[in-house]
Amino acid sequence: MNNVTKDIFYVGVNDHKIDLFEGQYEVPNGMAYNSYVIVDEKVAVMDSVDINFLDEWIKNIKEVLGNRKPDYLVVQHMEPDHSANIMEFLRVFPDATVVGNAQTFKMMYQFFHKEVEHKLEVSNGQVLDLGKHKLNFVFAPMVHWPEVMMTYDATDKVLFSADGFGKFGALDVDEDWACEARRYYFGIVGKYGMQVQNVLRKAATLDIQTICPLHGPILKENLGYYLHLYDVWSSYGVEAEGVFIAYTSVYGHTKEAVLLLKEELEKAGCKKVAIADLARDSMSEAVEDAFKYGKVVLATTTYNLEIFPFMSDFITRLVEHAWQNKTVGIIENGTWAPQVEKIIKAKLANAKNITFVEPVVKIVSALDENSKAQVIALAKELAK
Ligand code: FEO
Repeated sequence: MNNVTKDIFYVGVNDHKIDLFEGQYEVPNGMAYNSYVIVDEKVAVMDSVDINFLDEWIKNIKEVLGNRKPDYLVVQHMEPDHSANIMEFLRVFPDATVVGNAQTFKMMYQFFHKEVEHKLEVSNGQVLDLGKHKLNFVFAPMVHWPEVMMTYDATDKVLFSADGFGKFGALDVDEDWACEARRYYFGIVGKYGMQVQNVLRKAATLDIQTICPLHGPILKENLGYYLHLYDVWSSYGVEAEGVFIAYTSVYGHTKEAVLLLKEELEKAGCKKVAIADLARDSMSEAVEDAFKYGKVVLATTTYNLEIFPFMSDFITRLVEHAWQNKTVGIIENGTWAPQVEKIIKAKLANAKNITFVEPVVKIVSALDENSKAQVIALAKELAK
């Protein structure tokens, strides 16, 4: 049996069959859908799991409870990776009361087209008394859905943080936390930095010794490290010094300029230069790196009087996720009607606090002495 504390048990599952999380994110190491049981005078189950794991989840709950039955199912988040089995749970445990807020129950009806028989609608700050454990509901709207609430148990000093502090990857695979947590954060929560900042402010008033997220490992040690990263990410700060170059290249000429820029940056003393080929490398990792570094170079070609599709998609994703506070360099390649600089600047017009670096590198079909000199000048500017 998997204990979180003496009274709190892990009953979640690992998913190694999933192809794309949320229909778009590759998860080479699978995914975990976490659920917890709090055993007290009353028993509460915290969230359900993905639709494909009903039997395993119910088995895990029964293993913890033996002959006892859950009194409550707390629904912190209605996205189906955590809510799909609510009605199945109620078929197994028909006397359980579902706990959520007004928005939770509205969404529940939208998904299942029926009302639950026993429900407890809670407000922000309301406390549910299980006996020794009192569950305090902390609403976290738009982290990353409107109905999201977190739950704080002051007895064991545990914060059930919903999707907050989650990551990609199943729990039976050992991998670095920050890399897959960052990719998860910026892909899924990134747009809502202000709302995450609000939650962090609330969390700072609580004595938290354990964070139980809905994905990824339970966090017990070094909580300051995770809270600090969440603070940097949600305030759109610079996490790492260095330059990130995102590029597309049709016949290799733009790539040649990118490799020259990397070489010149390193010559100029830049310790870290990260590169992504947007057509071939992971788009979500490229988005993650664009948030991680403060300086970003976008290198692409004019294409159908637009920019190359992968770059267009990339910038759309950045803007949608509230990308901001960046120094941006541009490498433009065009053969007869170059448009890259104009289009990139227009696409980023609504992104906050973007500073463009001069010079913009202007390649006409292939690098020449002129454009090479511009690459070298850009490297010097970025390395300052
Ligand atoms: Fe893990 Fe937003 O669902």
